[in-house]
Amino acid sequence: MAIISSKKQPQPSEPDKEPRHRKKPGQKPSGESGEKLLQPQAATDEQDNKEEGIRPHQFADYIGQKDLKDVLDIAIKAAKSRGEVLDHLLLYGPPGLGKTTMAMILASEMGVNYKITSAPALERPRDIMGLLVNLKPGDIIFIDEIHRLSRMTEEILYPAMEDYRLDITVGKGSSARTRSIPLSKFTLVGATTRVGALTSPLRDRFGLIQKLRFYEVEELCEIVLRTAKLLKTDVTKDGATEIARRARGTPRIANRLLKRVRDYAEVKSCGEINESVAAEALQLFQVDPCGLDWTDRTMLSVIVEQFNGGPVGLDTVAAATGEDTQTIEEVYEPYLMQIGYLQRTPRGRVATPAAYKHLGFKPPSEQLSLLS
Ligand code: ADE
Repeated sequence: MAIISSKKQPQPSEPDKEPRHRKKPGQKPSGESGEKLLQPQAATDEQDNKEEGIRPHQFADYIGQKDLKDVLDIAIKAAKSRGEVLDHLLLYGPPGLGKTTMAMILASEMGVNYKITSAPALERPRDIMGLLVNLKPGDIIFIDEIHRLSRMTEEILYPAMEDYRLDITVGKGSSARTRSIPLSKFTLVGATTRVGALTSPLRDRFGLIQKLRFYEVEELCEIVLRTAKLLKTDVTKDGATEIARRARGTPRIANRLLKRVRDYAEVKSCGEINESVAAEALQLFQVDPCGLDWTDRTMLSVIVEQFNGGPVGLDTVAAATGEDTQTIEEVYEPYLMQIGYLQRTPRGRVATPAAYKHLGFKPPSEQLSLLS
């Protein structure tokens, strides 16, 4: 099934429906520890429905990503005033920062329908063909993990994106003919955590290429307060800040931590989430004050303790933590680099003096000179 989720904008006769909404790898902690709570990828229940109720549905409710919102606001107003469809848009950045939410908001602001799918669901050419021929004028298709499209699917997309045309080959061998089927004008929103993995012909067909960045603590705090209100949970500003500080710059993690802290507060205290309740709960879930989990700390301590701060090759870091190199590169490293604990150098990964301090070590003077 190619479509993961779709939504029609409410028609005048149709009431608005909510969308359907040194350690060995084997020694990793298990259960609902920080490790699982801090994964920025959506958990299955979040993907299915639980994120839906707290997702913002319009720009006015979307906190953060100001630069991106400004760019998209102009693109939407310009497209609307010309009566055209929005240009194809590529959104890239670490998982959990709101790429899907942004595509849904775009559809809502443009007053069009959307269909959400992901590259692995478009394996066979007929999956993408089925999607394209059923589009209505202006529709938005959102393809997650677009860097994983198969070559055949990608080649079907080229004329579809450029000329709103589906080229199909009828017959075989010398009698083969190409037929073109006109498509409705549509907007493709592609999302990826690995913009460099896109082929250049595909990348070049996007009129807008925009990055989502990690959120500031203040922005995450606002998101936590907004979500708490929707969940009818009492949280103080200090409590929300404590959660925000440990959320790795990622709204999906902030909202997930809020739900776990809410459980803790209901069971262990009076229900209100204040700074000390949030800190106690998150300590219990092994989420440290900077939002680091077992894997982050293991990565950094291997580099510091076994390799004198680095440089260390990615494969070594992966072997020490039991994670695959892609997860390390796409999930763990971006946040560690963002908070200044890790550097990627041509010779390998290097722990910074800040990482030494966080782990309770004194940075060696050579380390300081290597980084200066
Ligand atoms: N929930 C998740 N991401 C959000 C955002 N950027 N703004 C408001 N609420 C959110």
